[in-house]
Amino acid sequence: MPILETRALCHVYSQGTPFEKTAVHDISLAIEEGELLGVIGHTGSGKSTFIQHLNGLLKPSAGQVLFQGQDIHADKAALRAVRFGVGLVFQYPEYQLFEETVFRDIAFGPKNMGLGEAEIRERVYEAASFVGVGGELMEASPLELSGGQKRRVAIAGVIAMRPRVLILDEPTAGLDPAGRESILANISAFQRSTGAAVLLISHSMDDIARFARRMAVFHEGRLVMDDSPARVFDRADELKQMGLTVPMATEIALALRQRGVELPESVYTVKYLKKLLLERRGEARPC
Ligand SMILES: Nc1ncnc2c1ncn2[C@@H]1O[C@H](COP(=O)(O)OP(=O)(O)OP(=O)(O)O)[C@@H](O)[C@H]1O
Ligand SMILES: [Mg+2]
Repeated sequence: MPILETRALCHVYSQGTPFEKTAVHDISLAIEEGELLGVIGHTGSGKSTFIQHLNGLLKPSAGQVLFQGQDIHADKAALRAVRFGVGLVFQYPEYQLFEETVFRDIAFGPKNMGLGEAEIRERVYEAASFVGVGGELMEASPLELSGGQKRRVAIAGVIAMRPRVLILDEPTAGLDPAGRESILANISAFQRSTGAAVLLISHSMDDIARFARRMAVFHEGRLVMDDSPARVFDRADELKQMGLTVPMATEIALALRQRGVELPESVYTVKYLKKLLLERRGEARPC
């Protein structure tokens, strides 16, 4: 059984008004226990609208969301279970930091869950270490932190609830390359060590190519591909028609193939491309 699933989910904004807009059409998507699913799609394709249904922030206009097999809108207990079990990190989550200290900000979620002091403390320190926020920052004001540190604290606040599914909407937007890399590595380590499922929305094909084992592609409110990164990136022409790009390594491999270099399809990470090219160089070397 998938940990989280949507069935024929639709969302219409401002229904029955002249501003009516169907942002999500008929999406059925199952997230399996412990997997890392990447979600891509052009701006306005419905990604953020979709994920806000996954912890009950938005209610479907039609269709269902099931968490651990149960409809999340069945009753209050089901909605409470999904609020704590599915953690949602918004785009630019640092704008939502509001407590006086880093500790209190990270502790906000666990406190709401009604946990005792000792357990809250344990979870706050655990979550902070997952995102690389040192204990020395716990009594600092979030306002004193750098942009990257604020982002980490905001993510820790969700991780501290120990969600079974962690959903992140563009967690690396606006960060420098080193910051992006380290946050993605933290998220990946969180997924591997806790067994939580992670859904990662990103505009960066390279990031998705390296971290996700499965990808969902949104286009104009619909789910148009749901497959392994290799198979999705093999459909480079279709992606380009949707205004999307392919990873840099795929682009280079395509260009090399057009120039007659024999390379397999499904090249989507720099690491793999490098290995293939080095192997070729090895073949050509006289022995
Ligand atoms: N609160 C709202 N009221 C009305 N329409 C909205 C609202 N929020 C989003 N939309 C519309 O719904 C569609 C999907 O928007 P959404 O924000 O879900 O896309 P997205 O894929 O997350 O885009 P981006 O990559 O820019 O974040 C867009 O056409 C958008 O204008
Ligand atoms: Mg969005």
